[in-house]
Amino acid sequence: MNNNCAVILAAGEGKRMKSRHSKVLCEVLFKPMLGWVLDAAAAAGASDRCVVTGHNCGEVEGYLQSREDGCETVRQAERLGTGHAVLQAADFLSRHAGGHALVLCGDAPLMDAQSIRGAYEAHIKQGNAVTVISAVVGDPTGYGRILRSEAGGIFGIVEEKNADEGQKAIREINSGGYWFSVDGLLAVLGELPKNPVSGEYYLTDAIALLLGRGQKAGAFAAGSEDVVLGANDRVQLAALNERARAAVLNGHRLAGVSIPCGDGVLIGPDVSIGADTVILPGTILRGKVSIGEDCVIGPNSLLEDSTVGSHVKLNAVQCYQSQIEDGVTAGPFVHIRPNSLLRAGVKVGDFVEIKNSVVGNGSKVPHLTYVGDSDVGAHVNFGCGCVTVNYDGKSKNRCVVEDHAFIGCNTNLIAPVHIGEYGYTAAGSTITDDVPENALAIARARQVVKPMWVKGRQEKDG
Ligand code: UD1
Ligand code: CA
Repeated sequence: MNNNCAVILAAGEGKRMKSRHSKVLCEVLFKPMLGWVLDAAAAAGASDRCVVTGHNCGEVEGYLQSREDGCETVRQAERLGTGHAVLQAADFLSRHAGGHALVLCGDAPLMDAQSIRGAYEAHIKQGNAVTVISAVVGDPTGYGRILRSEAGGIFGIVEEKNADEGQKAIREINSGGYWFSVDGLLAVLGELPKNPVSGEYYLTDAIALLLGRGQKAGAFAAGSEDVVLGANDRVQLAALNERARAAVLNGHRLAGVSIPCGDGVLIGPDVSIGADTVILPGTILRGKVSIGEDCVIGPNSLLEDSTVGSHVKLNAVQCYQSQIEDGVTAGPFVHIRPNSLLRAGVKVGDFVEIKNSVVGNGSKVPHLTYVGDSDVGAHVNFGCGCVTVNYDGKSKNRCVVEDHAFIGCNTNLIAPVHIGEYGYTAAGSTITDDVPENALAIARARQVVKPMWVKGRQEKDG
Protein backbone atom coordinates (compact mmCIF):
# COMPACT_ATOMS: atom_id res chain seq x y z
CA MET A 1 0.00 0.00 0.00
CA ASN A 2 1.31 3.42 -0.91
CA ASN A 3 0.57 6.50 1.17
CA ASN A 4 -0.65 8.68 -1.69
CA CYS A 5 -3.28 11.35 -1.37
CA ALA A 6 -4.91 14.24 -3.18
CA VAL A 7 -5.49 17.89 -2.30
CA ILE A 8 -8.23 19.58 -4.32
CA LEU A 9 -8.37 23.37 -4.47
CA ALA A 10 -11.92 24.64 -4.31
CA ALA A 11 -11.87 27.94 -2.46
CA GLY A 12 -12.49 30.10 -5.52
CA GLU A 13 -15.53 32.30 -5.79
CA GLY A 14 -16.35 32.32 -9.47
CA LYS A 15 -18.07 35.70 -9.61
CA ARG A 16 -18.74 35.49 -13.32
CA MET A 17 -21.04 32.49 -12.87
CA LYS A 18 -23.49 34.95 -11.29
CA SER A 19 -24.62 32.24 -8.95
CA ARG A 20 -25.45 32.13 -5.26
CA HIS A 21 -23.65 28.79 -5.22
CA SER A 22 -20.02 27.82 -5.15
CA LYS A 23 -18.36 27.67 -8.55
CA VAL A 24 -17.07 24.13 -8.02
CA LEU A 25 -20.66 22.97 -7.52
CA CYS A 26 -21.70 24.18 -10.98
CA GLU A 27 -22.69 21.07 -12.88
CA VAL A 28 -21.36 19.39 -15.96
CA LEU A 29 -23.77 16.67 -17.09
CA PHE A 30 -25.70 17.01 -13.83
CA LYS A 31 -22.62 16.39 -11.70
CA PRO A 32 -20.80 19.15 -9.80
CA MET A 33 -17.39 19.95 -11.31
CA LEU A 34 -15.86 19.09 -7.94
CA GLY A 35 -17.44 15.63 -8.14
CA TRP A 36 -15.71 14.96 -11.47
CA VAL A 37 -12.36 15.94 -9.99
CA LEU A 38 -12.82 13.87 -6.83
CA ASP A 39 -13.79 10.81 -8.87
CA ALA A 40 -10.86 11.23 -11.26
CA ALA A 41 -8.45 11.43 -8.30
CA ALA A 42 -9.91 8.28 -6.75
CA ALA A 43 -9.93 6.43 -10.07
CA ALA A 44 -6.24 7.29 -10.46
CA GLY A 45 -5.40 5.81 -7.06
CA ALA A 46 -5.61 8.83 -4.74
CA SER A 47 -8.70 7.93 -2.74
CA ASP A 48 -7.51 9.73 0.39
CA ARG A 49 -8.64 13.24 -0.53
CA CYS A 50 -8.75 16.64 1.13
CA VAL A 51 -10.72 19.54 -0.33
CA VAL A 52 -9.65 23.12 0.41
CA THR A 53 -12.85 25.17 0.73
CA GLY A 54 -13.32 28.91 1.04
CA HIS A 55 -16.13 30.70 -0.71
CA ASN A 56 -19.47 29.10 0.25
CA CYS A 57 -17.56 26.49 2.28
CA GLY A 58 -20.67 25.28 4.11
CA GLU A 59 -22.36 24.38 0.86
CA VAL A 60 -19.28 22.58 -0.46
CA GLU A 61 -18.93 20.66 2.81
CA GLY A 62 -22.60 19.69 2.55
CA TYR A 63 -22.04 18.30 -0.94
CA LEU A 64 -19.01 16.31 0.25
CA GLN A 65 -21.02 14.82 3.10
CA SER A 66 -23.79 13.81 0.70
CA ARG A 67 -21.26 11.86 -1.37
CA GLU A 68 -20.45 9.66 1.61
CA ASP A 69 -16.99 8.80 0.32
CA GLY A 70 -15.15 10.29 3.25
CA CYS A 71 -13.34 13.33 1.83
CA GLU A 72 -11.71 15.60 4.36
CA THR A 73 -11.96 19.36 4.16
CA VAL A 74 -9.93 22.32 5.36
CA ARG A 75 -10.97 25.93 5.15
CA GLN A 76 -8.92 28.66 3.57
CA ALA A 77 -10.20 31.76 5.34
CA GLU A 78 -8.56 34.22 2.95
CA ARG A 79 -7.84 33.59 -0.71
CA LEU A 80 -4.12 34.16 -0.80
CA GLY A 81 -3.23 32.01 -3.78
CA THR A 82 -2.81 28.38 -4.82
CA GLY A 83 0.30 27.90 -2.65
CA HIS A 84 -1.49 29.30 0.39
CA ALA A 85 -4.45 27.03 -0.36
CA VAL A 86 -2.26 23.90 -0.31
CA LEU A 87 -0.59 25.12 2.87
CA GLN A 88 -3.97 24.88 4.63
CA ALA A 89 -3.82 21.12 4.04
CA ALA A 90 -0.41 20.76 5.73
CA ASP A 91 -1.76 18.54 8.54
CA PHE A 92 -3.47 16.28 6.03
CA LEU A 93 -0.24 16.11 4.01
CA SER A 94 1.83 15.31 7.13
CA ARG A 95 -0.26 12.19 7.62
CA HIS A 96 0.89 11.08 4.16
CA ALA A 97 4.61 11.54 4.76
CA GLY A 98 6.68 9.36 2.46
CA GLY A 99 3.90 9.27 -0.14
CA HIS A 100 2.97 11.42 -3.12
CA ALA A 101 0.31 14.10 -3.25
CA LEU A 102 -1.81 14.89 -6.25
CA VAL A 103 -2.92 18.53 -6.36
CA LEU A 104 -5.89 19.36 -8.61
CA CYS A 105 -8.15 22.34 -9.30
CA GLY A 106 -11.75 21.73 -8.31
CA ASP A 107 -12.98 23.69 -11.31
CA ALA A 108 -11.31 21.71 -14.11
CA PRO A 109 -13.71 18.77 -14.40
CA LEU A 110 -12.29 17.09 -17.48
CA MET A 111 -8.94 16.22 -15.88
CA ASP A 112 -9.08 12.45 -16.39
CA ALA A 113 -7.75 9.49 -14.45
CA GLN A 114 -5.65 8.35 -17.41
CA SER A 115 -3.68 11.61 -17.53
CA ILE A 116 -3.24 11.58 -13.75
CA ARG A 117 -1.97 8.01 -13.86
CA GLY A 118 0.37 8.79 -16.76
CA ALA A 119 1.80 11.72 -14.83
CA TYR A 120 2.26 9.56 -11.75
CA GLU A 121 4.18 6.93 -13.69
CA ALA A 122 6.50 9.60 -15.12
CA HIS A 123 6.84 11.18 -11.66
CA ILE A 124 8.00 7.91 -10.11
CA LYS A 125 10.14 6.80 -13.06
CA GLN A 126 11.97 10.12 -13.26
CA GLY A 127 12.33 10.39 -9.48
CA ASN A 128 10.78 13.86 -9.49
CA ALA A 129 9.84 15.89 -6.44
CA VAL A 130 7.21 17.58 -8.61
CA THR A 131 5.61 16.60 -11.91
CA VAL A 132 3.32 19.13 -13.52
CA ILE A 133 0.43 17.84 -15.63
CA SER A 134 0.71 20.01 -18.71
CA ALA A 135 -1.12 20.30 -22.01
CA VAL A 136 -0.15 21.66 -25.39
CA VAL A 137 -2.97 23.97 -26.44
CA GLY A 138 -3.88 26.08 -29.45
CA ASP A 139 -4.33 29.25 -27.42
CA PRO A 140 -2.28 29.44 -24.22
CA THR A 141 -3.56 32.88 -23.18
CA GLY A 142 -4.13 33.21 -19.46
CA TYR A 143 -2.32 30.06 -18.40
CA GLY A 144 1.07 29.52 -16.80
CA ARG A 145 3.67 28.51 -19.44
CA ILE A 146 5.93 25.50 -18.89
CA LEU A 147 9.65 26.31 -19.04
CA ARG A 148 11.45 23.19 -20.24
CA SER A 149 15.16 22.75 -19.53
CA GLU A 150 17.67 21.25 -21.96
CA ALA A 151 18.17 18.24 -19.71
CA GLY A 152 14.54 17.17 -20.19
CA GLY A 153 12.98 18.41 -16.97
CA ILE A 154 11.49 21.83 -16.33
CA PHE A 155 12.93 24.82 -14.55
CA GLY A 156 9.73 26.65 -13.80
CA ILE A 157 6.31 27.95 -14.76
CA VAL A 158 5.83 31.56 -15.73
CA GLU A 159 2.40 33.12 -15.31
CA GLU A 160 0.92 35.08 -18.22
CA LYS A 161 1.35 38.43 -16.54
CA ASN A 162 5.04 37.84 -15.84
CA ALA A 163 5.91 36.25 -19.18
CA ASP A 164 8.04 37.96 -21.82
CA GLU A 165 7.14 37.76 -25.53
CA GLY A 166 9.21 34.63 -26.08
CA GLN A 167 7.62 32.86 -23.13
CA LYS A 168 4.14 33.92 -24.19
CA ALA A 169 4.66 31.99 -27.43
CA ILE A 170 5.07 28.73 -25.48
CA ARG A 171 2.00 26.58 -26.04
CA GLU A 172 2.71 24.01 -23.32
CA ILE A 173 0.78 25.19 -20.29
CA ASN A 174 0.21 24.30 -16.67
CA SER A 175 -3.11 22.50 -16.15
CA GLY A 176 -3.02 23.33 -12.44
CA GLY A 177 -2.65 19.60 -11.66
CA TYR A 178 0.58 18.19 -10.15
CA TRP A 179 2.14 15.26 -8.37
CA PHE A 180 4.44 16.23 -5.50
CA SER A 181 6.49 14.09 -3.18
CA VAL A 182 4.77 14.89 0.11
CA ASP A 183 8.04 15.38 1.98
CA GLY A 184 9.39 17.74 -0.68
CA LEU A 185 6.16 19.73 -0.78
CA LEU A 186 5.96 20.09 2.99
CA ALA A 187 9.57 21.25 3.13
CA VAL A 188 8.98 24.18 0.73
CA LEU A 189 5.33 25.16 1.36
CA GLY A 190 6.21 27.46 4.22
CA GLU A 191 8.94 29.11 2.16
CA LEU A 192 6.80 30.17 -0.81
CA PRO A 193 7.42 33.86 -1.47
CA LYS A 194 4.64 36.39 -1.54
CA ASN A 195 4.19 37.66 -5.08
CA PRO A 196 5.06 41.35 -4.96
CA VAL A 197 2.37 42.29 -7.49
CA SER A 198 -0.64 40.20 -6.48
CA GLY A 199 0.27 39.58 -2.85
CA GLU A 200 -0.51 35.88 -3.39
CA TYR A 201 1.49 32.75 -2.70
CA TYR A 202 1.84 30.74 -5.92
CA LEU A 203 2.10 26.97 -5.81
CA THR A 204 4.08 27.18 -9.03
CA ASP A 205 6.92 28.82 -7.08
CA ALA A 206 7.44 25.48 -5.31
CA ILE A 207 9.24 24.28 -8.43
CA ALA A 208 12.18 26.68 -8.10
CA LEU A 209 12.42 25.96 -4.36
CA LEU A 210 12.56 22.21 -4.95
CA LEU A 211 15.15 22.59 -7.72
CA GLY A 212 17.16 24.80 -5.35
CA ARG A 213 17.24 21.89 -2.92
CA GLY A 214 18.71 19.69 -5.64
CA GLN A 215 15.47 17.86 -6.37
CA LYS A 216 13.99 17.10 -9.78
CA ALA A 217 11.03 18.70 -11.55
CA GLY A 218 9.28 17.46 -14.68
CA ALA A 219 6.17 17.92 -16.75
CA PHE A 220 3.88 15.27 -18.20
CA ALA A 221 1.95 16.41 -21.26
CA ALA A 222 -1.59 15.04 -21.24
CA GLY A 223 -3.01 13.74 -24.50
CA SER A 224 -5.88 16.22 -24.65
CA GLU A 225 -6.43 19.94 -24.12
CA ASP A 226 -9.52 19.04 -22.12
CA VAL A 227 -7.54 18.51 -18.90
CA VAL A 228 -7.08 22.25 -18.50
CA LEU A 229 -10.58 23.34 -19.35
CA GLY A 230 -12.44 25.17 -16.66
CA ALA A 231 -15.45 27.41 -16.74
CA ASN A 232 -15.58 30.96 -15.49
CA ASP A 233 -19.04 31.81 -16.78
CA ARG A 234 -22.13 29.98 -17.99
CA VAL A 235 -21.12 30.21 -21.64
CA GLN A 236 -17.92 28.33 -20.87
CA LEU A 237 -19.89 25.95 -18.65
CA ALA A 238 -22.21 25.16 -21.56
CA ALA A 239 -19.15 24.54 -23.75
CA LEU A 240 -17.76 22.12 -21.15
CA ASN A 241 -21.12 20.34 -21.07
CA GLU A 242 -21.13 19.98 -24.85
CA ARG A 243 -17.60 18.58 -24.83
CA ALA A 244 -18.34 16.14 -22.04
CA ARG A 245 -21.67 15.19 -23.62
CA ALA A 246 -20.10 14.31 -26.96
CA ALA A 247 -17.35 12.31 -25.25
CA VAL A 248 -19.85 10.34 -23.14
CA LEU A 249 -22.16 9.63 -26.10
CA ASN A 250 -19.31 8.45 -28.27
CA GLY A 251 -17.96 6.31 -25.42
CA HIS A 252 -21.30 4.50 -25.25
CA ARG A 253 -21.52 4.24 -29.03
CA LEU A 254 -18.11 2.60 -29.19
CA ALA A 255 -19.27 0.18 -26.48
CA GLY A 256 -22.21 -0.98 -28.61
CA VAL A 257 -25.02 1.41 -27.71
CA SER A 258 -27.03 2.93 -30.58
CA ILE A 259 -27.64 6.64 -30.33
CA PRO A 260 -28.72 7.36 -33.89
CA CYS A 261 -29.41 11.03 -33.18
CA GLY A 262 -27.92 12.72 -30.14
CA ASP A 263 -30.37 15.65 -30.16
CA GLY A 264 -31.38 16.42 -26.61
CA VAL A 265 -29.65 13.30 -25.31
CA LEU A 266 -27.77 14.01 -22.07
CA ILE A 267 -26.09 11.11 -20.35
CA GLY A 268 -24.26 11.63 -17.08
CA PRO A 269 -20.80 10.22 -16.43
CA ASP A 270 -22.04 7.59 -13.96
CA VAL A 271 -24.38 5.77 -16.35
CA SER A 272 -23.83 2.27 -17.69
CA ILE A 273 -25.68 0.97 -20.74
CA GLY A 274 -25.60 -2.54 -22.21
CA ALA A 275 -24.86 -3.41 -25.83
CA ASP A 276 -27.57 -3.12 -28.49
CA THR A 277 -29.62 -0.74 -26.40
CA VAL A 278 -31.01 2.19 -28.39
CA ILE A 279 -31.21 5.66 -26.89
CA LEU A 280 -33.60 7.97 -28.75
CA PRO A 281 -33.72 11.79 -28.86
CA GLY A 282 -34.79 13.83 -25.87
CA THR A 283 -33.55 11.28 -23.34
CA ILE A 284 -31.84 12.37 -20.13
CA LEU A 285 -30.04 9.86 -17.91
CA ARG A 286 -28.69 11.43 -14.76
CA GLY A 287 -27.10 10.34 -11.51
CA LYS A 288 -26.33 6.64 -11.10
CA VAL A 289 -28.26 4.85 -13.81
CA SER A 290 -27.70 1.37 -15.13
CA ILE A 291 -29.48 0.00 -18.19
CA GLY A 292 -29.20 -3.53 -19.54
CA GLU A 293 -28.93 -4.82 -23.10
CA ASP A 294 -31.35 -4.60 -26.01
CA CYS A 295 -33.52 -1.86 -24.55
CA VAL A 296 -35.15 1.07 -26.29
CA ILE A 297 -35.04 4.16 -24.08
CA GLY A 298 -36.86 7.21 -25.38
CA PRO A 299 -37.86 9.23 -27.14
CA ASN A 300 -38.26 11.85 -24.42
CA SER A 301 -37.49 9.84 -21.31
CA LEU A 302 -35.81 10.90 -18.09
CA LEU A 303 -34.21 8.39 -15.74
CA GLU A 304 -32.56 9.40 -12.47
CA ASP A 305 -30.71 7.10 -10.05
CA SER A 306 -32.49 4.03 -11.38
CA THR A 307 -31.74 0.50 -12.53
CA VAL A 308 -33.22 -0.92 -15.71
CA GLY A 309 -32.88 -4.55 -16.83
CA SER A 310 -32.58 -5.87 -20.38
CA HIS A 311 -35.19 -5.88 -23.18
CA VAL A 312 -36.99 -2.94 -21.62
CA LYS A 313 -38.90 -0.34 -23.65
CA LEU A 314 -39.47 3.08 -22.12
CA ASN A 315 -41.22 5.68 -24.25
CA ALA A 316 -41.80 9.12 -22.74
CA VAL A 317 -41.22 7.81 -19.23
CA GLN A 318 -40.02 9.74 -16.20
CA CYS A 319 -38.46 7.43 -13.64
CA TYR A 320 -36.83 8.42 -10.37
CA GLN A 321 -34.93 6.29 -7.82
CA SER A 322 -36.62 3.09 -8.95
CA GLN A 323 -35.96 -0.33 -10.36
CA ILE A 324 -37.29 -1.77 -13.61
CA GLU A 325 -36.66 -5.42 -14.36
CA ASP A 326 -36.22 -7.29 -17.65
CA GLY A 327 -38.83 -7.10 -20.37
CA VAL A 328 -40.86 -4.23 -18.93
CA THR A 329 -42.59 -1.89 -21.36
CA ALA A 330 -43.77 1.50 -20.20
CA GLY A 331 -45.21 4.56 -21.85
CA PRO A 332 -46.04 6.81 -23.37
CA PHE A 333 -46.49 9.43 -20.63
CA VAL A 334 -45.64 7.41 -17.53
CA HIS A 335 -44.35 8.72 -14.21
CA ILE A 336 -42.51 6.25 -12.00
CA ARG A 337 -41.83 7.95 -8.70
CA PRO A 338 -39.19 7.00 -6.10
CA ASN A 339 -38.94 3.61 -4.50
CA SER A 340 -40.88 1.65 -7.07
CA LEU A 341 -40.08 -1.78 -8.41
CA LEU A 342 -41.54 -3.02 -11.68
CA ARG A 343 -40.84 -6.73 -11.87
CA ALA A 344 -40.08 -8.65 -15.04
CA GLY A 345 -42.54 -8.34 -17.90
CA VAL A 346 -44.71 -5.63 -16.38
CA LYS A 347 -46.63 -3.51 -18.86
CA VAL A 348 -47.42 0.09 -17.96
CA GLY A 349 -49.41 2.10 -20.47
CA ASP A 350 -50.26 5.72 -21.11
CA PHE A 351 -50.96 8.24 -18.34
CA VAL A 352 -50.05 5.96 -15.47
CA GLU A 353 -48.30 6.99 -12.25
CA ILE A 354 -46.61 4.48 -9.97
CA LYS A 355 -45.23 5.60 -6.60
CA ASN A 356 -43.49 3.71 -3.80
CA SER A 357 -44.98 0.44 -5.03
CA VAL A 358 -44.05 -3.01 -6.19
CA VAL A 359 -45.75 -4.32 -9.32
CA GLY A 360 -45.25 -8.09 -9.68
CA ASN A 361 -44.18 -10.18 -12.68
CA GLY A 362 -46.23 -9.75 -15.81
CA SER A 363 -48.83 -7.47 -14.26
CA LYS A 364 -50.54 -4.89 -16.46
CA VAL A 365 -51.42 -1.31 -15.67
CA PRO A 366 -52.30 -0.18 -19.16
CA HIS A 367 -54.20 3.12 -18.93
CA LEU A 368 -54.89 6.20 -16.82
CA THR A 369 -54.17 4.67 -13.42
CA TYR A 370 -52.48 5.67 -10.16
CA VAL A 371 -50.78 2.98 -8.11
CA GLY A 372 -49.28 4.48 -4.94
CA ASP A 373 -47.99 2.86 -1.73
CA SER A 374 -49.11 -0.55 -2.97
CA ASP A 375 -47.87 -4.11 -3.17
CA VAL A 376 -49.19 -5.62 -6.35
CA GLY A 377 -48.59 -9.31 -7.04
CA ALA A 378 -47.92 -11.14 -10.30
CA HIS A 379 -50.26 -11.24 -13.31
CA VAL A 380 -52.62 -8.67 -11.90
CA ASN A 381 -54.67 -6.66 -14.37
CA PHE A 382 -55.75 -3.12 -13.71
CA GLY A 383 -58.56 -1.82 -15.92
CA CYS A 384 -58.59 1.71 -17.21
CA GLY A 385 -58.80 4.57 -14.73
CA CYS A 386 -58.10 2.84 -11.41
CA VAL A 387 -56.92 4.68 -8.32
CA THR A 388 -55.30 3.44 -5.15
CA VAL A 389 -56.60 5.95 -2.64
CA ASN A 390 -53.57 5.94 -0.41
CA TYR A 391 -54.01 9.21 1.46
CA ASP A 392 -56.89 10.03 3.76
CA GLY A 393 -55.73 13.55 4.38
CA LYS A 394 -53.70 12.55 7.43
CA SER A 395 -51.74 9.42 6.74
CA LYS A 396 -50.66 7.23 3.86
CA ASN A 397 -51.80 3.62 3.80
CA ARG A 398 -50.92 0.64 1.62
CA CYS A 399 -53.03 -1.47 -0.70
CA VAL A 400 -52.17 -5.10 -1.23
CA VAL A 401 -53.31 -6.79 -4.43
CA GLU A 402 -52.49 -10.49 -4.61
CA ASP A 403 -51.52 -12.51 -7.71
CA HIS A 404 -53.99 -12.80 -10.60
CA ALA A 405 -56.40 -10.26 -9.18
CA PHE A 406 -58.49 -8.30 -11.66
CA ILE A 407 -59.24 -4.70 -10.81
CA GLY A 408 -62.18 -3.53 -12.90
CA CYS A 409 -62.16 -0.25 -14.77
CA ASN A 410 -62.58 2.87 -12.69
CA THR A 411 -62.10 1.09 -9.35
CA ASN A 412 -61.04 3.05 -6.27
CA LEU A 413 -59.13 0.95 -3.74
CA ILE A 414 -59.43 2.83 -0.44
CA ALA A 415 -56.26 1.97 1.50
CA PRO A 416 -55.61 0.04 3.59
CA VAL A 417 -57.34 -2.70 1.68
CA HIS A 418 -56.41 -6.24 0.64
CA ILE A 419 -57.50 -7.95 -2.58
CA GLY A 420 -57.01 -11.72 -2.38
CA GLU A 421 -55.64 -13.99 -5.11
CA TYR A 422 -57.89 -14.10 -8.21
CA GLY A 423 -60.11 -11.52 -6.53
CA TYR A 424 -62.23 -9.32 -8.84
CA THR A 425 -63.64 -5.88 -8.42
CA ALA A 426 -66.53 -4.75 -10.57
CA ALA A 427 -66.02 -1.73 -12.78
CA GLY A 428 -66.79 1.52 -11.05
CA SER A 429 -66.46 0.10 -7.53
CA THR A 430 -65.14 2.01 -4.57
CA ILE A 431 -63.62 -0.77 -2.47
CA THR A 432 -63.37 -0.02 1.24
CA ASP A 433 -63.33 -3.59 2.61
CA ASP A 434 -60.99 -6.50 1.91
CA VAL A 435 -61.90 -8.80 -0.97
CA PRO A 436 -61.26 -12.49 -0.29
CA GLU A 437 -59.56 -14.72 -2.84
CA ASN A 438 -61.65 -15.73 -5.85
CA ALA A 439 -64.42 -13.32 -4.79
CA LEU A 440 -66.08 -10.61 -6.84
CA ALA A 441 -66.72 -7.35 -5.03
CA ILE A 442 -69.30 -4.94 -6.39
CA ALA A 443 -69.37 -1.64 -4.57
CA ARG A 444 -71.59 0.74 -6.44
CA ALA A 445 -75.27 1.69 -6.47
CA ARG A 446 -77.44 -0.64 -8.51
CA GLN A 447 -78.61 0.93 -11.74
CA VAL A 448 -82.15 2.28 -11.77
CA VAL A 449 -83.91 2.73 -15.11
CA LYS A 450 -86.94 4.99 -15.25
CA PRO A 451 -88.80 4.28 -18.50
CA MET A 452 -90.09 7.30 -20.45
CA TRP A 453 -88.77 9.63 -17.74
CA VAL A 454 -87.79 12.28 -20.28
CA LYS A 455 -91.20 12.35 -21.93
CA GLY A 456 -92.81 12.69 -18.48
CA ARG A 457 -90.67 15.69 -17.64
CA GLN A 458 -91.44 17.36 -20.96
CA GLU A 459 -95.19 17.02 -20.33
CA LYS A 460 -94.86 18.43 -16.82
CA ASP A 461 -92.85 21.42 -18.07
CA GLY A 462 -95.51 22.04 -20.74
C1 UD1 B 1 -3.31 28.61 -11.94
C2 UD1 B 1 -1.81 28.44 -12.15
C3 UD1 B 1 -1.51 28.50 -13.64
C4 UD1 B 1 -2.32 27.48 -14.39
C5 UD1 B 1 -3.79 27.64 -14.10
C6 UD1 B 1 -4.59 26.50 -14.67
C7 UD1 B 1 -0.80 29.37 -10.12
C8 UD1 B 1 -0.03 30.51 -9.58
N1 UD1 B 1 -1.10 29.45 -11.44
O1 UD1 B 1 -3.60 29.94 -12.36
O2 UD1 B 1 -0.14 28.28 -13.86
O3 UD1 B 1 -2.09 27.56 -15.78
O4 UD1 B 1 -4.03 27.62 -12.67
O5 UD1 B 1 -5.96 26.75 -14.54
O6 UD1 B 1 -1.10 28.44 -9.44
N2 UD1 B 1 -7.66 28.52 -5.38
C9 UD1 B 1 -7.89 28.38 -4.03
N3 UD1 B 1 -7.41 29.33 -3.19
C10 UD1 B 1 -6.72 30.40 -3.61
C11 UD1 B 1 -6.49 30.54 -5.00
C12 UD1 B 1 -6.97 29.56 -5.86
O7 UD1 B 1 -8.52 27.40 -3.61
O8 UD1 B 1 -6.32 31.22 -2.78
C13 UD1 B 1 -8.17 27.48 -6.30
C14 UD1 B 1 -9.21 28.01 -7.25
O9 UD1 B 1 -10.52 27.85 -6.70
C15 UD1 B 1 -9.02 27.11 -8.46
C16 UD1 B 1 -7.52 26.78 -8.41
O10 UD1 B 1 -7.11 27.04 -7.10
O11 UD1 B 1 -9.73 25.91 -8.34
C17 UD1 B 1 -6.71 27.62 -9.40
O12 UD1 B 1 -6.83 28.96 -9.03
P1 UD1 B 1 -6.93 30.12 -10.09
O13 UD1 B 1 -7.07 31.41 -9.40
O14 UD1 B 1 -7.95 29.78 -11.12
O15 UD1 B 1 -5.48 30.04 -10.73
P2 UD1 B 1 -5.00 30.68 -12.06
O16 UD1 B 1 -4.65 32.10 -11.81
O17 UD1 B 1 -5.96 30.39 -13.14
CA1 CA C 1 -8.06 29.33 -13.38
